[in-house]
Amino acid sequence: MSETPPMKIFVLGSGAGGGFPQWNCNCPNCRGLRAGTIQASSRTQSSLAISDGGTDWLLVNASPDLRAQLETCPALQPGRAVRDTAIAAVLIVDAQIDHTTGLMTLREHNKRLPVYCTPSVHSDLTSGYPLLNVLEHYCGVDWHPVDAIGGVSFSIPELPSIEILPVPLPGEAPPYSPRRHKPAKDDTIGLSFHDRESGRRCFYAPGLGEWTDPVLAEADRADCVLIDGTLWKDDELVDRGASQKTGQEMGHLAQTGSGGILDRLMQLDTRKILIHINNTNPILDERSPERKRLIEAGIEVACDGMEIEL
Ligand code: MLT
Ligand code: MN
Ligand code: ZN
Repeated sequence: MSETPPMKIFVLGSGAGGGFPQWNCNCPNCRGLRAGTIQASSRTQSSLAISDGGTDWLLVNASPDLRAQLETCPALQPGRAVRDTAIAAVLIVDAQIDHTTGLMTLREHNKRLPVYCTPSVHSDLTSGYPLLNVLEHYCGVDWHPVDAIGGVSFSIPELPSIEILPVPLPGEAPPYSPRRHKPAKDDTIGLSFHDRESGRRCFYAPGLGEWTDPVLAEADRADCVLIDGTLWKDDELVDRGASQKTGQEMGHLAQTGSGGILDRLMQLDTRKILIHINNTNPILDERSPERKRLIEAGIEVACDGMEIEL
C-alpha cells in the first residue's frame, strides 16, 4: 500500500480580533506580556492554512496580520517563479475584520484570486465592507459560493483529497452588517475537513455562539477539533474594563458556564484545541489556574506556528 501524505494544518494566527497583545490594551495579559511578567506567547489574528500533499495550500481566513504570517510558513512561498505563492485559494468563515482584511494583502496576485465564502459573507464583502469590489481593481476575485445552509460539501481543485463540509454556526453578523443581531444561517460557518485518502477529519469553528446538534455531530466524529477559544467567561471584557460587550453579544460561547465550550469538549474523545483566543483570556497565561484546568482536562491551546498532521 502506498503511503498517503497526511492532511497538514498550519496555524498562522491563533489570536482573536486585535491579537495579543492588542495595540491599545493594558489588561493584565497584554501588560504582562509586554513587561515579561507573565509566561505567555504573542498571537496574531485568526487564520490557518491546510494542505493535502504540502504543495498547494488553502488559506482559511485572511487576517490583517497575513503578510507577516506568510513569512512564518516557508511552504507557502515555494519560489518557483518571480511572482509565486502556494496559496491555491482563500476560504472565509465570516465577514469579520480579523478574517477578511488580509485579502487586501493578496492584491498583487498575478491571477484572479479564488475566494470561497457563503452568499451572506459575499454580500457583506461587496456592500458594507466592499473588499471584493476594491480587489477588482487589483488582482480581481473569482467567487465560489459555499452552500452551508444546504450542507453542500466541496473541494478545491488543487487539494483534491480534502472534502470540506460547511456547517452553519449560530453567532452574530459583523458589527457593520445589516444583519448584526439577526444573523442569517450562513453569516458564520464552521468547517469540517475530511481527508478522503486517510479518512481523518478536523472540525474548525473559530466563532461558535452555541452548540447545535450538527456542530456536536461534526465535533464528535472529528479526529481533531479546533474550537472557539475567545473568552473564558461571558462577561470577561466587561470584568476587565475593556468593553461593554459580552461574549454572547459577539457570538462567542465562553469556555465556562453550563453548556459552555468546556462542558461539551470534555465529553469528546478526540484531540481538542482552543483557537481564536482573545487577549483578555486568562488561559493565555501559562501559569494561570485556568490554564492548569485545561491541561488537566486534556485541552490544548493553539499557538502561532502550530502544525497539526492528521
Ligand atoms: C469577533 O470574532 O468577534 C471579531 O472578529 C472581533 C473583531 O475582529 O473585531
Ligand atoms: Mn474574530
Ligand atoms: Zn488585553
